Amino acid sequence: MKTIFLIMFFILLGTMANISEAVTSDIMLASPETEGGKSVLQAISERSSAAQAAFSAKEPSLKELSTLVWAATGKNRDGKGWTVPFAMGSDPYISLYVLLKRGAYLYDPEKNMLKLLSDKNSLSRAASQGFIGTAPSIFVFATKGNGPRVEGWAETAVGAMTQNVYLAAGALGMKTRYVQSFNRETLINLLNIGPLSRIIAIMPVGFQ
Ligand SMILES: Cc1cc2nc3c(=O)[nH]c(=O)nc-3n(C[C@H](O)[C@H](O)[C@H](O)COP(=O)(O)O)c2cc1C
Repeated sequence: MKTIFLIMFFILLGTMANISEAVTSDIMLASPETEGGKSVLQAISERSSAAQAAFSAKEPSLKELSTLVWAATGKNRDGKGWTVPFAMGSDPYISLYVLLKRGAYLYDPEKNMLKLLSDKNSLSRAASQGFIGTAPSIFVFATKGNGPRVEGWAETAVGAMTQNVYLAAGALGMKTRYVQSFNRETLINLLNIGPLSRIIAIMPVGFQ
């Protein structure tokens, strides 16, 4: 009896360890979809912002998530270029953070992964407009530090990145919205964004 109890105890302990490992780990993304979907011209002709109304609870698949972050700031041309233009061909000077139900992450385009920053669901805290918090994912665009170059180039880069997210979301049958009114202090604390960096915009992304 004692042996059975001990075996069950250790099985339970093992299960708990697996769960916490699953919750507190980085997300290795699938390779992005680089073909198919709607044509670019069709996506442009249909582009519109998500309605200021609740998103469906449906979460994007890892493939869809991978495609969206890649469109925002991923590598292309066999790893030699980027999906959006960065001045002087430099590496991205904008960080892309992703809030999901399972936590908050920083996108690493070199490793094609989302690095875990917090295992809390903070979607509803990102902005005060209620519909934004119903999205299954929220993208956050922030400068990597400051300095005259980054400050001079940042808005152009975020414009290109967010437009790519609009078009990729459209191609995948998803909706998004450029949002500049967000809870700055909450996001700075949650994502541990240093005083030199500046959040420029957020985008709720999901299905409607
Ligand atoms: C600079 C900028 C800031 C915006 N900020 C917000 C915002 O804080 N909240 C919001 O719901 N929509 C925001 N929007 C989305 C616009 O309201 C939306 O793009 C506009 O109504 C036009 O709709 P369309 O994108 O479907 O053409 C913003 C858009 C831009 C370009």
